Amino acid sequence: SPLHSLLVALPKCEHHMHLEGSLSPELLFRLAAKNSISLPQSDPAFESVESLYARYAAFTSLDDFLGYYYIGFSVLLTQSDFEELSYTYLSRAASSNVRHTEVFFDPQAHLSRGVAVSTIIGGFQAASQRAETELGISSLLIPCLLRHLPVENSAACFGEMLSANLFSSQGSGGVLAGLGLCSTEIAKPPSVWKDIFALAEANGIRRTSHAGEEGPAEYVAKALDDLHAMRIDHGVHAADDEGLLEKLAVQKIMLTVCPVSNVRLRGVDDIKEVPIRRFLEKGVRFSLNSDDPAYFGAYIQEVYCQTEDAFGLSVDEWGMIARNAVEGSWCDDTRKGEIL
Ligand code: HPA
Ligand code: ZN
Repeated sequence: SPLHSLLVALPKCEHHMHLEGSLSPELLFRLAAKNSISLPQSDPAFESVESLYARYAAFTSLDDFLGYYYIGFSVLLTQSDFEELSYTYLSRAASSNVRHTEVFFDPQAHLSRGVAVSTIIGGFQAASQRAETELGISSLLIPCLLRHLPVENSAACFGEMLSANLFSSQGSGGVLAGLGLCSTEIAKPPSVWKDIFALAEANGIRRTSHAGEEGPAEYVAKALDDLHAMRIDHGVHAADDEGLLEKLAVQKIMLTVCPVSNVRLRGVDDIKEVPIRRFLEKGVRFSLNSDDPAYFGAYIQEVYCQTEDAFGLSVDEWGMIARNAVEGSWCDDTRKGEIL
C-alpha cells in the first residue's frame, strides 16, 4: 500500500504488549542454555527455533497460546535477562517510531518460580532509562493479574506490590503505571477481581483489563462497571452490543486492539473481521498493538500495515488513530505534547 511509508513515519504509542510475549524463540533457547533450564522433552516443538516458530504459527486458541507463553517464562531468571528482553523490544519499537509504550508483565507467574517483582522491575527500568536516553522512547510498566489462578493469589500479589509502594500513584517514585488483568478469559468474569480493583482505585491506581477477546460483550461491560476499567484490552466483542459501543464512545474508553493477535489465536478467521470500521463509525477510540509480537509474528509496524491492507483507511483516519493513541496513553501531558 502507498500508505506504508506514512505508517512507518507516524509517531506511535503502544499500550498492549506483554514483555514476556516479546521473548523470541532465539532468545528463549539462548537463555535456557545460559540458565540451565530444561524445556519440555516430550513436545517436538522445542526441538529447534524453526519447529517452535512453526508451532507458534498454528495456535488454535488463547489457551493453546498461553501454554507456550508460560513455558517461555521459565527461562527468565535474572535482572539482566529482563533487561535484555526489555531493551530488545524497546529498540525494535523505537526503530518503528514508537515514541511511547506501556508494557504489561505477569508478576504472579514469576513469583511462583521464585523470581521477585523487583528483579523484573530492575531489569525493565535499566532498559527503559537507556532506551529513553539513547533512542527517545518513553516506557511505563503495568502488572497484570492472572485470571487462571485463584483470585486469592491475585490479592496477595497486588497486596505485596501495594505494600512495597511500587505504583506511581503512591507518590514515592513507584514505577508501575497502573494495574491490568489478563490470561484465560472464558468462565473468568471480571467481577471476581472487583474488590482488588476497588482497592487499586482507592489508592489512585489506574486500571485496565483484558476483556472481549474470547469472552462476550458482557465481560467488557463488567470490566467497566465492576472494575472501573479506564481502558479495555482487546474489546473486540464489544462490537456485538450497540449500547456498549455508545457507552465506550461517550466515556472515551480506549480499546487496545490487537488485530494480528486476534487472527493468530483464531478469534477471527481474517483480519477484515476485526470490527475496526465499526469502532470508527461509532466513535470508539482504539489503539493498534502487537500483544505478543514474538509469538504472533508481527511487531507493531506489521500490525499497522496489515490493518491498512485489510481496511484501506484514509490518511485522516490514520491521523486520528495516532492522536487517540497519544491521548489514551498514561504518560503526562508534557510527554504527550512532545509526541504529537
Ligand atoms: N490475552 C490474555 N492474556 C494474555 C494475552 C492475551 O492476548 N497475551 C498474554 N497474556
Ligand atoms: Zn494481551
